[in-house]
Amino acid sequence: MSKYRLLDCGNGQKVEILGDYKVIRPCPQAIWKPFNPKLWEDADSLFERTTGEKGTWKALKNPDNQKRNKLGGGTPENWEVKSDSGITWRIRPNDFGNIGVFTEHWQYAPSLVNFFDKKGKILNLFCYTGSNNIDLVKAGYKVTVVDSSSVALDDYTHNLGLNRLSRDGQRLILEDVHKFIVREVRRKAQYDGIICDAPSFGRGTKGEVFNIEEDLIKLLEACKELLSPKGKVVLTLHSPRFTPRILETVCAQLFPKKKVEVSEILNPCESGVKLPSGFLVKIG
Ligand SMILES: C[S@@+](CC[C@H](N)C(=O)[O-])C[C@H]1O[C@@H](n2cnc3c(N)ncnc32)[C@H](O)[C@@H]1O
Repeated sequence: MSKYRLLDCGNGQKVEILGDYKVIRPCPQAIWKPFNPKLWEDADSLFERTTGEKGTWKALKNPDNQKRNKLGGGTPENWEVKSDSGITWRIRPNDFGNIGVFTEHWQYAPSLVNFFDKKGKILNLFCYTGSNNIDLVKAGYKVTVVDSSSVALDDYTHNLGLNRLSRDGQRLILEDVHKFIVREVRRKAQYDGIICDAPSFGRGTKGEVFNIEEDLIKLLEACKELLSPKGKVVLTLHSPRFTPRILETVCAQLFPKKKVEVSEILNPCESGVKLPSGFLVKIG
């Protein structure tokens, strides 16, 4: 199976090679023109929005493939791809144009093995399918993951299995993040590392609303209480409202004894352009 390749982006889209398939899907921040139109040729599938955020996958090479998966065409229901660090991931396209992994996390996730204390106890909030923490599991860390989507946690479990990683010492929690952290604070639980990929907007298992504009500070305050004295935090955000300077100011105020570093997550394309994909804050 071939490795993941981000080929190019432009005109609000990106083109990627995901294992055996070349796929084009939305990428709103790529407002420029494609840098290398040749790289867009011969794609298998294109995601087109129909209503609001939703859409369908359209077979490009062979229109008869239209029905190859229930969402549209050009690819199977699911397949696999490898990231640069050698981890195998399940790809499962959905009708929002997502594919079951957020590949921008692969830019920094392998390096977290050197950031967190070796074999520390890690908490990953809003884990989705584990793009930002499976490297840690592979390196032997005990990771508690929390997410409100059973589909995401099923894929997380599947990804552990694909990489022959034992579930021993790994905790998977299907719950609203806020409810989980309130309970952990009450229990005086402590973690050596907290990862948090905060969505701009999300819902808990019972419809509880997470709205980054209102809830980010509350979330960080709770993380602070759950952190062991030498503990470290990795926060990623994809909301344009939170600029690097805003993030630096908020985090430096909340964690005055720790070093705060903010950087932009850049996903390099083979065409040469670096695709901006959110901000990474390291507190430790
Ligand atoms: C943008 S994804 C996170 C991406 C992920 N960290 C990765 O690296 O692949 C947002 C995730 O947050 C979850 N989520 C949203 N609101 C939530 C809430 N209130 N409690 C728990 N999980 C929530 C969603 O189910 C989804 O899996």
